[in-house]
Amino acid sequence: MPPMTSTDSDTPTDSAAPAEAVGPLIRGIAVLRRLTDAGGRQSLGDLARATELARSTVDRIVRTLERMGYLRLEGRDAVLTPGLMELGNAYLAAARLPGLLGPYADRLADRLDESVSIAVDDPDGVRFVHQATRRRALSLSFRIGDLLPAERTGPGPLFAADWPESRWTRWHEQRAADPEDGRFPAVPPRAGAGVDTFPARAAHAREQGWSLDDQLIEPGLVALALPVHDPAGRQVCAVSVVSHTSRHDADALRDAALPPLRETVAAMEQALRLPPPVPPPAAPAAALAGWTAASKQELGPEFVESLARGLTVLTAFGEGRAALPLTAVAQATGLPRATARRALITLDHLGYVAQDGKDFRPTTQVLALGFAPLSRLTLSQIAQPHLAALAEQVHESASLAVLDDTDIRYTARAATDRIMSVDITVGTRFPAHATSLGRVLLAGLPPQERDARLARAEPRALTRHTVTSTAELSTLVKEVDRQDYALVDQELEEGLRSVAVPVRDRTGQVVAAANLSTHTGRRSLEECRTALLPALRQAAARIEADLHTAGRFARITLR
Ligand code: PHB
Repeated sequence: MPPMTSTDSDTPTDSAAPAEAVGPLIRGIAVLRRLTDAGGRQSLGDLARATELARSTVDRIVRTLERMGYLRLEGRDAVLTPGLMELGNAYLAAARLPGLLGPYADRLADRLDESVSIAVDDPDGVRFVHQATRRRALSLSFRIGDLLPAERTGPGPLFAADWPESRWTRWHEQRAADPEDGRFPAVPPRAGAGVDTFPARAAHAREQGWSLDDQLIEPGLVALALPVHDPAGRQVCAVSVVSHTSRHDADALRDAALPPLRETVAAMEQALRLPPPVPPPAAPAAALAGWTAASKQELGPEFVESLARGLTVLTAFGEGRAALPLTAVAQATGLPRATARRALITLDHLGYVAQDGKDFRPTTQVLALGFAPLSRLTLSQIAQPHLAALAEQVHESASLAVLDDTDIRYTARAATDRIMSVDITVGTRFPAHATSLGRVLLAGLPPQERDARLARAEPRALTRHTVTSTAELSTLVKEVDRQDYALVDQELEEGLRSVAVPVRDRTGQVVAAANLSTHTGRRSLEECRTALLPALRQAAARIEADLHTAGRFARITLR
């Protein structure tokens, strides 16, 4: 790999960076961090100002990240996209914590009917890796990847009980530099809260083995946290039960939740004794190196290959691949050894991987690359850009809907022009039986449930074409299930025809349906099948790909 080119060396120079560090990777990560702190969206001009990079450099970085599927351009704004979550997913899979311990947290949340979360110690604070959320009273709800100031949380004192002196020094410096907690976008500012009492709470946590957050994050919010240790006795994470003073004050929460929380932690520590999974074979390697080379060929100077290669190094890690030597990273990515080595040196310098002897492993900081704002996206927000691109491609209106008892309800829409007598907006409902969206959603139900819904719907005729016999509808829905699409002609409104396909989650469950609607005068039934359906299927596949990446660890709201 060539050294930094002159066009890419407009810094800000990281004077502490090792000589072999990859400059474009440092700058690309600076752009991703800035976008994350901005909540996932920022104009290119503001990005250049905030990162102190030349506008032309920001443009090239953004084009590269767009090509990687990590962001998209919307007018003047760069917007993070769910594809970027593959980096955080790689860390979460490698760390094993959410996969292994998450189910225990979920069961405790069910049992107590309170929120339960798992957090890890991050050099910058306390970071969530799992959330089982049951928020009733008004309070903040944190997501995987969110970072909290350690001194304002339950887990913070538990982690700090093990901190070496150097970590305390870092913490004091960070607090002094940011007295208003401005570096924590997920929490309301509360100048100085918990700072003075933190060392004493850490000492207390060491003695007691538990720690309380009595409304330090937010008035009303209380949390009880316990540490979880690995077989070597190292604290790997903390589990918190989170409640509200309208149900428990802090002391009452401790009394009620401490015994079940202790049981849960014991079960988690047992689970951590299980042997780690056998490493799955590395992903097909040559494809990746080939992809970056082809992108370079196509985009020329607009594609910063060393940035793409450097970020890709993080995807070498995963389940059963928690710590890898350089050779394994090079193999998994298909990168030359020297390239992988310089990328790892750079990522180590920036704190995204840690080196332990010959092995490298991804750190909690990988979650700072977009994970928290992206895990807040709902399915309709994930679908929206894909629907807009589809509508633009075929010049027809595209929609997303979910099943709501016997109705469909629109959750996202990209309209080209108005072809219906009623204006469809998000929230509009129609009877499921008379729409392509509804038939796809009914087909996604278990067979008995389909027929129960159809019977309950008491299907009415909306035009002279509407099928109203439940027996006939049942047969039609079976057919839709077999073909995996529905084509409905003028059953909802005269002159309107539409074609719909399912959108499935990672488990194969139909969670929504996407459709295109058109006018009888514009497209024949045959054209709906030959011209619209393939484009619709491709768009649905893109929505599903994003949903599956986003939903691997985070719970995506299906609104
Ligand atoms: C949370 O999971 O929302 C949580 C956990 C610990 C705290 C505060 C909030 O101290």
